[in-house]
Amino acid sequence: MLQWLIMFDFTLNAGSRKTRVVIGPNALLEVGSLLAQISQANPSRHVAVVADRRVGALHGDRLISSLSRAGNRVCEYRIDPGEGSKNLSTLGELYHFLKAQEIGRDAVVVALGGGVVSDLAGLAAATWMRGIDWVVCPTTMEADLDACLGGKTAIDLPGGKNLVGAFHHPILVVVDPTCLATLEPRDVRAGLAESIKHALIDSSDFLTWQEAHASSILALDQAVTTDLILRNLQIKAGVVERDPQEHTGARMMLNFGHTIGHAIEDCCGYDLRHGECVSLGMVAACRLSQALNLLNAKVVERVEALLVLFGLPTRLDRPIEFKRIEATLQCDKKARGGSPQFVLLEGIGKPVVRGDVPRDAVRRAYESLLEK
Ligand SMILES: NC(=O)c1ccc[n+]([C@@H]2O[C@H](COP(=O)([O-])OP(=O)(O)OC[C@H]3O[C@@H](n4cnc5c(N)ncnc54)[C@H](O)[C@@H]3O)[C@@H](O)[C@H]2O)c1
Ligand SMILES: [Zn+2]
Repeated sequence: MLQWLIMFDFTLNAGSRKTRVVIGPNALLEVGSLLAQISQANPSRHVAVVADRRVGALHGDRLISSLSRAGNRVCEYRIDPGEGSKNLSTLGELYHFLKAQEIGRDAVVVALGGGVVSDLAGLAAATWMRGIDWVVCPTTMEADLDACLGGKTAIDLPGGKNLVGAFHHPILVVVDPTCLATLEPRDVRAGLAESIKHALIDSSDFLTWQEAHASSILALDQAVTTDLILRNLQIKAGVVERDPQEHTGARMMLNFGHTIGHAIEDCCGYDLRHGECVSLGMVAACRLSQALNLLNAKVVERVEALLVLFGLPTRLDRPIEFKRIEATLQCDKKARGGSPQFVLLEGIGKPVVRGDVPRDAVRRAYESLLEK
């Protein structure tokens, strides 16, 4: 029985794999039946749920009872919350758990949580017995709008974020926006940076929609939030379908705001949220686009105004020197021969990739973030 008021369902075709995406209030109660629908040959499966302790305590019961009701055999593994768990030792412990539970080739890993849980559990699923099915149930704004879809999985090494990873598309993504009600407001706002990013690489219409619905979005109005998630995941799915494994360059557009954003994130020791760093990175990328005569000042002002409306930073609150940012930029995974690749804008919905941006222009755009 469907218990949601609004439900959207679409499929992402990523090469040989399909990801079914279901979005709706209380969709978490239907994960068991949705999994059974796409597992016709084997409707009751062995399922390993991976959650962090906070999310597990808040939302784990709804998911596990749904999976059990559908006849699955369910075990659960909990990790400590936070980026610190996206490491080799937690991944190793998770493998031992899968072994002890006799998780086989036909089993399914279900990730319940934010991007930390889905990146880690996804990598475990990608590598366990050379790859088993996995499902994502995101619970943060960041994961609902971005991390849950696209098949990127990873862990960090000391001094290197996402250095070990694999592409492994989930078979099912179930987004239940009611989970956002328990999220810290700062994490709600941080995730919205990805929504502005999606609008800037896709269309002015979506930016206008977000401006018009800002107060309902921040209040987590159910219908508007469901619509917001759907619009974001459709944009991301469109890009990922064109480039499922980051071979053609189309996927590079999703990196808008992330080049300088990641450098700030590295230099801050993960004290700022990812979305807050992306917000700063988007301001710098817009100003860089303006400095190179690609983008007019009105658009830059419009983007900054929406970031402020969503409570996101447009100024960096600590004096990190450009040379530290530059050193990190050169190590960026997307740098070519030591030159960082920038996604810039020629207008809203018109991203371009440039590898020839003068160093001084990058420095000025970054340093403008430090001005009072
Ligand atoms: N694979 C991708 O495509 C992709 C995309 C974007 C980000 N990421 C990764 O995602 C990670 C960041 O993810 P995140 O921002 O979701 O952070 P997160 O997973 O660390 O979650 C943030 C905090 O919120 C808590 N939390 C989660 N859901 C909650 C809820 N509903 N109620 C209350 N508390 C809740 C968690 O316990 C945690 O303390 C980074 O490691 C980043 O690299 C991956
Ligand atoms: Zn991001």
